[in-house]
Amino acid sequence: MPVLEPLSFECISHSEEQTQRLGARLAAALPAHAVIALSGPLGAGKTQFARGVGLGWGASQPLRSPTFTLVQEHHRAADDHTLYHIDLYRIERESDITTLGLDEVLDDETGIVIIEWAERAENLIPDNALQVRFEIVQESKRRLTFSTQNTATWQILLAFRKNAFGV
Ligand SMILES: Nc1ncnc2c1ncn2[C@@H]1O[C@H](COP(=O)(O)OP(=O)(O)OP(=O)(O)O)[C@@H](O)[C@H]1O
Ligand SMILES: [Mg+2]
Repeated sequence: MPVLEPLSFECISHSEEQTQRLGARLAAALPAHAVIALSGPLGAGKTQFARGVGLGWGASQPLRSPTFTLVQEHHRAADDHTLYHIDLYRIERESDITTLGLDEVLDDETGIVIIEWAERAENLIPDNALQVRFEIVQESKRRLTFSTQNTATWQILLAFRKNAFGV
């Protein structure tokens, strides 16, 4: 049964490095398959956070700001798993995304999917996604709000919160 109120908590990051560390901590709490939907304005820190997730997950190459490739695939040495880094900034309408093959990516049962500008495709993001909303507070201060609609995903977020903040 869907949860009506989103389950959420927020925190403040004071630096690019702190945002990356939060991403790495989140990676440590993830199961084999997870969808992470990042939203918020230009320069809010989505890619820095994604980079941290990539580091924590063990990607063999650093995650970068996407070029013209909408889906960038990363792998890790430990197993055959894939991390998909997607940026929807250039997407104008949700129907454009069907050509991206988002469905196949979401179907990868051992794949981690990180989507920047997820607000551009709200209807295509699965309900069990882990949402992180970024707000620019000051030059180097960002508010990150973690939320989900799904009770199982909420347990992942709670494990991450405990690990990152001790509460
Ligand atoms: N607390 C912070 N967390 C993350 N980035 C920060 C922070 N303080 C300052 N910054 C700076 O803000 C910028 C964030 O860039 P980043 O590419 O991660 O943003 P983005 O949300 O991915 O933007 P875009 O929508 O253009 O892809 C970087 O230049 C980074 O150094
Ligand atoms: Mg970015």
